[in-house]
Amino acid sequence: MITLKTAQEIELLRGSCQIARDTLLYLEDKIQAGMTTKDIDTLAYEFIKAQGAIPSCLGYHGYPASICTSVNHCIVHGIPSSKQILQNGDIISVDLVAYKNGFHGDAARTFAVGQVTSQAQKLIQVTKESFFQAIDGLFIGSPLNNIGAKIQEYVEKNGFQVVREFVGHGIGREMHEDPAVPNFGKAGTGIRLQAGMVLCIEPMIVAGKRDVTILKDGWTAVTTDGSLAAHYENTIVITEQGVEVLSL
Ligand code: MF3
Ligand code: CO
Repeated sequence: MITLKTAQEIELLRGSCQIARDTLLYLEDKIQAGMTTKDIDTLAYEFIKAQGAIPSCLGYHGYPASICTSVNHCIVHGIPSSKQILQNGDIISVDLVAYKNGFHGDAARTFAVGQVTSQAQKLIQVTKESFFQAIDGLFIGSPLNNIGAKIQEYVEKNGFQVVREFVGHGIGREMHEDPAVPNFGKAGTGIRLQAGMVLCIEPMIVAGKRDVTILKDGWTAVTTDGSLAAHYENTIVITEQGVEVLSL
């Protein structure tokens, strides 16, 4: 069931999304070679708590950390660890959700650690741009799968692949609500967007083959071929004016 949000609810969502955004900006500034992914998790936990919010991922279906830290060939749901030390040349996707006043705000970014290869830079850039391609020209009445079609077209045109196993989602009082928002698909198909729909659009893009392996911890999703992966996510709302990005 898709729950449409009122103007008042969107105000509360905006607050949670801005905390998620601010946390990512704070982490971007801190992340450097020599830190562990657990250090990043601790910084995020403290920052989110200081905003009067709760990190939604902590304890979600038993997830053991406040944020997801996915390094290099890890696509999503990397678990922060005190044994994982960031190196110059790594890329790291940080995905986090802040909960405040009854609503969740969800966002993710991929950061470069020090000097990264030009391929890694391009992957990060194309993943981010695919999000903006997807929201360009979205209105009330647009078919949902126009989002995935735009992402897929842009990503493949740039020589990369879209992961199929994980998708975006609605969000609100629950972290994951209907509808599922695939990052691939056929334009002109799917439900029609309505005013007050709040969606997380989150392309997960790989430089090599798009096959996914889940590690024994039951969470960590990596590319089977070991190729690099990037992730970019924002929470958006459909309005009479088009799209508003709540987590920018
Ligand atoms: N932002 C992630 C998502 O879109 C949240 C994952 S939290 C975890 O689903 F607990 F599942 F890791
Ligand atoms: Co999400």
